Amino acid sequence: MAGKVLTMAQQKGGAGKTTLVAQLAVALAANGRAVAMVDIDPQGSLSQWFSIRNGAGVIPSLHLTSVTGWRAQAAVEKLKASHDLVLVDSAPHAEIEAKIAVRLADLIIVPVQPSPLDLWATEPTLALARSEKRKVLIVINRVQTRMKLAETLTARIADLGADIAEATIGNRTSFAASMMDGRGVIETAPKGKAAMEMLALADEITRRLPRG
Ligand SMILES: Nc1ncnc2c1ncn2[C@@H]1O[C@H](COP(=O)(O)OP(=O)(O)OP(=O)(O)O)[C@@H](O)[C@H]1O
Ligand SMILES: [Mg+2]
Repeated sequence: MAGKVLTMAQQKGGAGKTTLVAQLAVALAANGRAVAMVDIDPQGSLSQWFSIRNGAGVIPSLHLTSVTGWRAQAAVEKLKASHDLVLVDSAPHAEIEAKIAVRLADLIIVPVQPSPLDLWATEPTLALARSEKRKVLIVINRVQTRMKLAETLTARIADLGADIAEATIGNRTSFAASMMDGRGVIETAPKGKAAMEMLALADEITRRLPRG
């Protein structure tokens, strides 16, 4: 098996990288995929969520490797051999392992919050992806009901020259609430809007992954 690597990258802190890795891992595993995660952020937030999940014995069980520095490459490559998808959560600053994670990615997912500050801060991440010639998908995260602002920003994001996911993620407290229990929204509120959004994003990402 040669699994695909999805790297969550955004040098702007707090954009939703860890939230999306955890929520997508649960959504993709629910679709029957063997999913592994790699936490290369020394903050270790994803690992904390994972240890709560494991402690509670939640099914489906997922795999997580926490690794920093040059060992990140070997960890990702090893997991590719035994999983359909390897999701990498990176740190907000471009450390050596974040560059490795970008280089190894089949698809880089860049969460962007619909605010000018977040938009402006996205360019270095896109530049890194371009320099490594990697495919990028921007995901607009924490969309508020004031859609007019989001639409204006969508037009600006399009100017950045990267693909934008049709699926957007709303600003919903249920994402954090589910993670408190080591779960994802599709497990804690499977009929809710947050779960629908996450499943739609998981589907879109699956469709956009390069074949072969
Ligand atoms: N769609 C959302 N709706 C509501 N809250 C969200 C959403 N996405 C993220 N958050 C919240 O925003 C905060 C930052 O999210 P998260 O830790 O996932 O970002 P990050 O990009 O991983 O941050 P860092 O750069 O520090 O690693 C968290 O409190 C999280 O619960
Ligand atoms: Mg994080």
